[in-house]
Amino acid sequence: MKKLLFFASATLLLQCHSPETKTDNTIYVKDPHSYSQPEKAVVKHLALDLKVDFEKQELSGKAVYDIQNNNSNEIIFDTRNLNIQKITLGEDEKEASFSLSKNDSIFGQALTINIEKNTSRVNIYYSTTKGAEALQWLTPQQTAGKTQPFLFTQGQAILSRTWFPCQDSPGIRFTYSAKLRVPKNLLAVMSAENPVAKNDSGVYNFSMPQPVPAYLIALSVGDIEFKKIGERTGVYAEPVMLEKSVYEFADMEDMLISAEKLYGKYQWGQYDVIVLPPSFPFGGMENPRLTFATPTIIAGDRSLTSLVAHELAHSWSGNFVTNATWDDIWMNEGFTVYFERRIVEAIYGKEYVEMQWQLGLQDLEATLEEFQESGEESSLKLHLQGRNPDDGLSDIPYEKGAHFVLLLEQKAGREKLDKFLNDYFNAHAFKTITTEEFLKYLDAEFIKKYSLDVNVDEWVYKNGLPANCPRVVSAKFKTVEQALYSWSKGTKPELLPTKDWTCHEWLHFIRNLPGNISASEMEILDNAFHFTNSGNSEVAAAWYVQAINSNYKNAYPEIETFLMNVGRRKFVVPLYKQFVKTEEGKRLALEIYAKARPNYHSVAAITLDELLGYKLP
Ligand code: BES
Ligand code: ZN
Repeated sequence: MKKLLFFASATLLLQCHSPETKTDNTIYVKDPHSYSQPEKAVVKHLALDLKVDFEKQELSGKAVYDIQNNNSNEIIFDTRNLNIQKITLGEDEKEASFSLSKNDSIFGQALTINIEKNTSRVNIYYSTTKGAEALQWLTPQQTAGKTQPFLFTQGQAILSRTWFPCQDSPGIRFTYSAKLRVPKNLLAVMSAENPVAKNDSGVYNFSMPQPVPAYLIALSVGDIEFKKIGERTGVYAEPVMLEKSVYEFADMEDMLISAEKLYGKYQWGQYDVIVLPPSFPFGGMENPRLTFATPTIIAGDRSLTSLVAHELAHSWSGNFVTNATWDDIWMNEGFTVYFERRIVEAIYGKEYVEMQWQLGLQDLEATLEEFQESGEESSLKLHLQGRNPDDGLSDIPYEKGAHFVLLLEQKAGREKLDKFLNDYFNAHAFKTITTEEFLKYLDAEFIKKYSLDVNVDEWVYKNGLPANCPRVVSAKFKTVEQALYSWSKGTKPELLPTKDWTCHEWLHFIRNLPGNISASEMEILDNAFHFTNSGNSEVAAAWYVQAINSNYKNAYPEIETFLMNVGRRKFVVPLYKQFVKTEEGKRLALEIYAKARPNYHSVAAITLDELLGYKLP
């Protein structure tokens, strides 16, 4: 410990005395999705000073970057659809020349700024444009409260460059601070130290003292209030959602404590969740200190809170140790799904989590089948060069990744795996990791150490599912399968043993209905179980897929309402996909989509435009 402290203070001294000779020996991995060249000059701290203008739907102001300059005469940023007004160097703001490369529709433009060999600060004056895909500006009508507008950002994977110039690679970390001016009746919150109430000035200050990659910088502005849950946890939401959210997330503090017991100290101080309006395109996003979440997990019975466990787990796998490029995303998501399920197991028990493992494997197998047909790669390590990194987002990094970690658990036992993961996180604290670096570490610290025999290369580099994939079989699901069987043999739905079913059993039931189920059979089930009006979004969404498949028209008005309100990609994409399987369905889907599209975030709209062959009128 003493030794460590000595080193820490020695580097600090060095940094204080000779900033101009600071050189960066970090070896940066080439990131195919970023123009930046960090080995020349790299951002170490960002200070944003922005005005949030709802009328113009624009952020504008100044971004100040403290850089580590390795004797370079240029620094390169990623930008996309930004309006760069002026760039100056140093505290005395000497005007600098810069150039923007030709625009690429996915990656945007490289912003190359000419600097001096001793430049340590760059100031960029800019504003966002209508092409800022990270931003979603919502009208009051699109919020829960219906009275105030709302703004939120989504940075992952490469959208941060659409709202501030950045070296937009997960391998480049920097600290940040921000000063934001927002309309007086609104509150701003970020992935940083946050205010807990509105003030009269409408000016809010933020700081994030731990270095984070650009994709984890996030902002929300709206009629937002805060309520504490535990010592280190709390919820932000619109006033009409706040009490419900506090009830739903009552286990958050326990989750945090369980997570720390598993894999070591939580490094970010506070852990809060913000419940966003329903157009948020994801279930959750692990913005440090402040998870962004869809309101579709507010089920009223705490049944969908494993999503919070997932985003919380990213505080280790993802935010504390980060995938070096988006080709390594399984290092973020696979470990996080495994970790999520360990938290869920600790809090809700083994029987509960077994259902999630089995549902997860079902998803994975369905995806693998689809990918085999389409020829899409299904290895853990991806090859997304030249493509939108969003294309790599599938059950492969999540479920195949998690099952690989589960295999490691089975090979060596939990105790050894847990020790390994603890050490792994600590050894790579606030660093990034490539798949290859990880495999080296795994080999030395786990496989060789415990003389294990694991087909790592097959799991990581080959398509498909290795034969030794662990298969968790849920005892609870046996009952569901029996119920499905007796129903198929004529037992009335009311007589099935469904009394204590959680949403997981219901999901298993709905997903395993016969593919050729008729609309009238659907109606009988609906009358008994009221799926069409389920308050549980997972159950409703799974049911709606079956409803479209069986042409069960009674559900269509609710499906339309759902598609009009909810923008969560995981729900809406399968519904539209099911619709387009028939000509009539496709017509209906396009009709609904034309009305619903303005409610969707760009991330969902882009996917759906392609799926539906939709062109803006
Ligand atoms: N980090 C992801 C969301 C993400 C991934 C956004 C890649 C953009 C690009 C987040 O942690 C996540 O995985 N969310 C899931 C929920 C989870 C319980 C599987 C989601 O949104 O469905
Ligand atoms: Zn995740």
